[in-house]
Amino acid sequence: MSDVYLNGKFVPLEQACVPVLDRGFIFGDGVYEVIPVYDHRPLALDRHLHRLENSLKGVRITPPLSLATWQSLVKELVEREPSAQQSVYIQVTRGVAPRDHTFPPHATPTVFAMAKPLSAPPPEWIREGISTITHADFRWLKCDLKTTALLANVLLRQMAVDAGAVECLLIRDGYLTEGAASNVLVVLEGQLLAPPRNHLLLPGITYELVLELAAKKGIPCQERPVTEAELRRADEVMMTSSTREIVPITRIDGIPVGSGRPGSVTLRLLDWYQEYKRS
Ligand SMILES: Cc1ncc(COP(=O)(O)O)c(C=O)c1O
Repeated sequence: MSDVYLNGKFVPLEQACVPVLDRGFIFGDGVYEVIPVYDHRPLALDRHLHRLENSLKGVRITPPLSLATWQSLVKELVEREPSAQQSVYIQVTRGVAPRDHTFPPHATPTVFAMAKPLSAPPPEWIREGISTITHADFRWLKCDLKTTALLANVLLRQMAVDAGAVECLLIRDGYLTEGAASNVLVVLEGQLLAPPRNHLLLPGITYELVLELAAKKGIPCQERPVTEAELRRADEVMMTSSTREIVPITRIDGIPVGSGRPGSVTLRLLDWYQEYKRS
């Protein structure tokens, strides 16, 4: 693995160490971003950096680097990593301070970043679609912030894996929010439906790109609340994320979605997404 970045220096991963009193370790007090890179070119970098700024603002951490510095850091990470397909991970915590819930007056944010090879989702996921389970969304009410405090997401995702599924679809008060580590979109009666961007879900960059591509290609789409009943009678369901792109969901709680095969809207969106990546 290529060297990682920690607080201004590139060092081998084994030498990248953070003090135990870092608030990221003690409280999960930090935010992060994941940027996909294809042919050594980051995809939608500006959108990811904008979301990082938004997450920092949301948890009241002063941005430790300027936009231009983030851009050159990502560029350098990408250049150092030999794989053409990569994911760049950036994490910022509130820094190191004596353990106390209140913000430390003088801590300097910890900045960690790394690039690693990114492999495409397994071909059978696209060929057959994936199985998912559903569960009550027991996360907090600031899911629009990409924070490192992911224990709820970790538990929910593990429930899916324990059940032999890939992802856990989250239901809050009778409505679909998103997946434990992805956004979820639904095709129902010829319309692409996307749960609205609000405090209940992460505004996914892939979700955003998919909606833009769908609109451009003339697929009727609507960003509006999706009920659990609509999810269960959908013709197609898909999950989206920067590292897994667009994946057809063909089973929910053991029951086939629509025909039980990846649907044509999902597969067309996937094709257009590949075109978009190349452009
Ligand atoms: C909870 C959650 N929602 C949605 C997404 C998808 O966001 P993006 O498309 O920006 O990767 C992720 C990605 O990891 C996620 O963790």
